[in-house]
Amino acid sequence: MSELIIKLVSFQSPEYLETVELRERILRIPLGLKVDQEELDKEGNQFHVAAYLDGKIVGCLALVPIGTKTLKMRQVAVDKAVQGQGIGTRLVSYSEEFAIKKGFCRIELHARKEAKRFYDDLAYTTLGDEFTEVGIPHYKMEKDWCAN
Ligand SMILES: CC(C)(COP(=O)(O)OP(=O)(O)OC[C@H]1O[C@@H](n2cnc3c(N)ncnc32)[C@H](O)[C@@H]1OP(=O)(O)O)[C@@H](O)C(=O)NCCC(=O)NCCS
Repeated sequence: MSELIIKLVSFQSPEYLETVELRERILRIPLGLKVDQEELDKEGNQFHVAAYLDGKIVGCLALVPIGTKTLKMRQVAVDKAVQGQGIGTRLVSYSEEFAIKKGFCRIELHARKEAKRFYDDLAYTTLGDEFTEVGIPHYKMEKDWCAN
């Protein structure tokens, strides 16, 4: 595989707008939904992470600071053509290293039931029961190293 580049992109930059397009294509359109402009307007305080292969965006996620210790990981998406090749794993690892560098010690997320095994394999812990979000089943999950 070509070299995978993962980097932070700035809110409202052309690279950020590419992440929005990828998220809409992978996470929203299959559910008959669209990205909500009001939601996007609130994303200025989030860290936006994007992955590139040969200069083309293939994956992304966003990290929302919640207080001083926790980042919420959201909108994790990998282009369908390259799913199952380790790109999602690399995006999550990048985010964990980023969290440590910035002094956070906990990552939480709402995992789609379909993707739960992906996070299980990355040592995320399930908190509580299944719930519905965007019309599909989810689980709250976390990785917490604050006590270490
Ligand atoms: C879930 C997703 C982000 C994972 O990224 P990826 O690049 O495909 O994942 P990786 O290649 O790093 O996979 C790592 C492991 O997770 C497993 N896995 C990947 N996607 C999975 C899925 N949807 N369901 C269950 N397991 C999955 C793989 O089998 C792989 O395990 P293996 O190496 O033992 O085979 C990606 O498949 C995706 O965008 N899916 C559609 C949107 C989605 O569900 N996003 C998550 C929202 S919470």
